[in-house]
Amino acid sequence: MSTAELEDRTSFSAVELLSSGDYDEPLIANGVRCHGGFDADGRYRSPRTLHRGPAIAAWQSRLADEGGALIELSPGLMPPQYPNVAQAKLLLQNGVRDPVVRALTIISIVEGFGAMIRDVQVPDLGEIFVEPIEGTALAHLEKGLFEAHARDESGYRDEGGHKQMWEAARDAALENPKIPGDVLMRLMGRRGRGGRPEPAFPEIGPELERMLGFMANVLVVEVFAEGTFQWGIDVLSDPAVSAAPDVAGGMVRNIQADEKPHVEYLRAALSEARARTIRTVDGKTIAGQQVVDGLLHRILRQMTKTRPNDQREDVREGLVEAMKAASNPARLLEEFDALDQDWTPPGKTGFEPAQDAA
Ligand SMILES: [Fe+2]
Ligand SMILES: [Fe+2]
Repeated sequence: MSTAELEDRTSFSAVELLSSGDYDEPLIANGVRCHGGFDADGRYRSPRTLHRGPAIAAWQSRLADEGGALIELSPGLMPPQYPNVAQAKLLLQNGVRDPVVRALTIISIVEGFGAMIRDVQVPDLGEIFVEPIEGTALAHLEKGLFEAHARDESGYRDEGGHKQMWEAARDAALENPKIPGDVLMRLMGRRGRGGRPEPAFPEIGPELERMLGFMANVLVVEVFAEGTFQWGIDVLSDPAVSAAPDVAGGMVRNIQADEKPHVEYLRAALSEARARTIRTVDGKTIAGQQVVDGLLHRILRQMTKTRPNDQREDVREGLVEAMKAASNPARLLEEFDALDQDWTPPGKTGFEPAQDAA
């Protein structure tokens, strides 16, 4: 099939959206066969993008042709990573590895959680939306898109995904560090707080709200992860603190490349929903824009408010203890805190409900 034909197509089978095509060389990370691979001139190509890449581009350009806007999240909303790059390097240079090992392990666990997207229930979207959905990303969520995303994050069969790739980067850079046994437990304890939010749009029914809410949440996480990737690249590719600057830094760059289709299909599908009209459970309708913006607004407000503190709390909890590994812990803590950067979330998310937009 020619490139032009591919670009015109907007309908794909699940098999197509899950296919990677052939690689010249597989990606092996710390002895683990991972997804993706290299083409003849050594360039990394993300897994399952042979058709998924052109498909997403076609859905986005169709949305634009039909006058729909593509959702944009302001990069200013992205909270900084804690410890920041300078702080992480300072710790490593002083032989204090535990906080950085923890941070990298948390990232790998959270990547693995991404597999949950395959369990999201997709209601009958053809019935729910007033406008047709044939040839959209929305019509392909259950037909390959969620499954491809799940496989990318947590691996599939004997191929590692992002979870294994972050572990490999961590282990190569920090020479197989001892992993604290309580990372997952502490992470789960934090996630359990707050419980499930009240429905924001009871009129659309719980199934659709859960699906759109989950997608909006993952989109925000994926976009915010951009800061985490840059942090990972900056720390792990510095030969002063990393034992494998090329391997570990390169691995994070590969993961970073794989995230692009995640961000782009979620943006496409949520933007398609935003451009449509939703039938409510009581036989009326509501603008998709009201629902999608409302969900994004709520998530962005929550994440910009709680995430920086959560991360700080996590790190601070063990910091003083971990610093005992340094020759002068009190002085190190002072230096560490002096490198702190203040961050205040922007006042607006960009998705404010119409009535209270200033
Ligand atoms: Fe990922
Ligand atoms: Fe992702």
